[in-house]
Amino acid sequence: MIRCDRTVAWRALQGHYEAHGRDLELREAFARDPGRFAALSLQAPEVFADLSKNRWDLFTRKLLIELAHECGMPARRDAMFAGEPINATEGRAVLHTALRAPRGAAPHAAQVHAVLDAMLTFAERTRQSASGITNVVHIGIGGSDLGPQMAVPALDAFAARHIDFHFVSNVDGHDIAPVLRRLQPQSTLFIVASKTFTTQETMANAEVARQWFVAQGGRDVARHFVAVTTNPAAAAQFGITTTFGFWDWVGGRYSMWGAIGLPIAIAIGEANFRALLAGAHAMDRHFADAPLESNLPAQLGLLDVWYRDFHRFASRCLAPYHQGLRRLPAYLQQLEMESNGKGVDLDGQALPYGTSPVVWGEPGTNGQHAFFQMLHQGTDVIPVEFIAVREPSHPYAALHRKALANCLAQAQALMRGRSALQARAERVPTAAPGLDADTLARHRTFPGNRPSTTLVLDALTPRSLGALIALYEHRVFTSGAVWGINSFDQWGVELGKALCNDLLPRLDSGDSRGLDASTAALLGRLRG
Ligand code: F6P
Repeated sequence: MIRCDRTVAWRALQGHYEAHGRDLELREAFARDPGRFAALSLQAPEVFADLSKNRWDLFTRKLLIELAHECGMPARRDAMFAGEPINATEGRAVLHTALRAPRGAAPHAAQVHAVLDAMLTFAERTRQSASGITNVVHIGIGGSDLGPQMAVPALDAFAARHIDFHFVSNVDGHDIAPVLRRLQPQSTLFIVASKTFTTQETMANAEVARQWFVAQGGRDVARHFVAVTTNPAAAAQFGITTTFGFWDWVGGRYSMWGAIGLPIAIAIGEANFRALLAGAHAMDRHFADAPLESNLPAQLGLLDVWYRDFHRFASRCLAPYHQGLRRLPAYLQQLEMESNGKGVDLDGQALPYGTSPVVWGEPGTNGQHAFFQMLHQGTDVIPVEFIAVREPSHPYAALHRKALANCLAQAQALMRGRSALQARAERVPTAAPGLDADTLARHRTFPGNRPSTTLVLDALTPRSLGALIALYEHRVFTSGAVWGINSFDQWGVELGKALCNDLLPRLDSGDSRGLDASTAALLGRLRG
């Protein structure tokens, strides 16, 4: 496999960037080419994407597709679907796509569907009011938390109304304490979710939950605690008898499609959970089969490479104009930054080019009243990804129209900007008296030409959410494959965990020997 920066396409992209890419003016590009929107927008399963407000053109796209081929991205994609051990540093296959494939259509189908059927039967039983369960507390962190935490509010319109869902992840007791305050043991189900069943945060919170349960007079731990893990022996040792398994070929941040999705299944029920899987599977087929010229995840991933390594944009902002997607930025932070935040290639050689951008965001319109100032007038160009949903799942049509108009307006404002001349022509009632008009106009100028992508869903449903999340997974795969990194390990989280194990006893003993002066002084201060 050729490293991406040593390919012919990379050199061509470099030349293209210098000649046309850097100075591509979106307003002019639209004026010049009436077919720009049609040429640079794409319909994938459940997700329409307008990529035309990005600083690229058909020639950039052609070169990026050549880059993907030269780097062997399609072959690596096929190896993933086939179950080859592409996660080389952990010696594992990467088969989250098998979790949403129909029976018999992917490797490990028999075990996948056995667990899925059992998990969905349990979910259906739990969501019947006869079960007496009115509160579900999901205890897990990272990939064992963010999927359900993102999807349950996203699919609120489909959720059982008599059950409240709580998510506890942080080892800081301020997370679990207010949750427990609201609960009764007899009507609460605790789900302890951990791939390894050794994660400090999850084990500590599960222990607190069990102690609370017993102290409140809860009698049947085995009935009120279930586990989701690849390590059923550890769950059994904890006293949990009902365990839903998954496998080492499912990465934590790719795991919401199986048993980790239990809270989602309890919320929306079996049929809707299967629709979520079907939506993701439809996107899998699109990614596996569509030529790169019409392959949406591939194009988004390639655009990420173009922005990161040629334009040198270091971050991307996500603005979902649907309150149900409020946890999507957090979910994507793990998906993208834990997957592609790597500094060495598959051979462990240091990379001379940038990999994962910083991904961040907030639902619109809240972000507009906070950090959009920087997006419009700050010194960095930050591509924005808008998500708009045509049909709301609430009855307030006027509110929805306002949300959509805001979404369109922000993308338009980023691109159009406002010249000093335009600013000068407008009267501003809040301007300081006596401020000279030219100075004020310069403050009120917007550079414009700021890029954005708009993704459009017809409605936020289990099926479309499944497709949307799978789209993001494959986009991350695409850029990771081009960058030649392992998107499926996460060694960068290890060091801090090890140092924490060293520091924990020092908080009791006060022993600061061998610590740097800063850590030693902070330790002393925190011990009080
Ligand atoms: O933070 C690192 C990490 O290993 C994530 O990759 C993972 O999703 C999370 O911790 C939780 O791990 P587990 O599911 O084993 O508790």
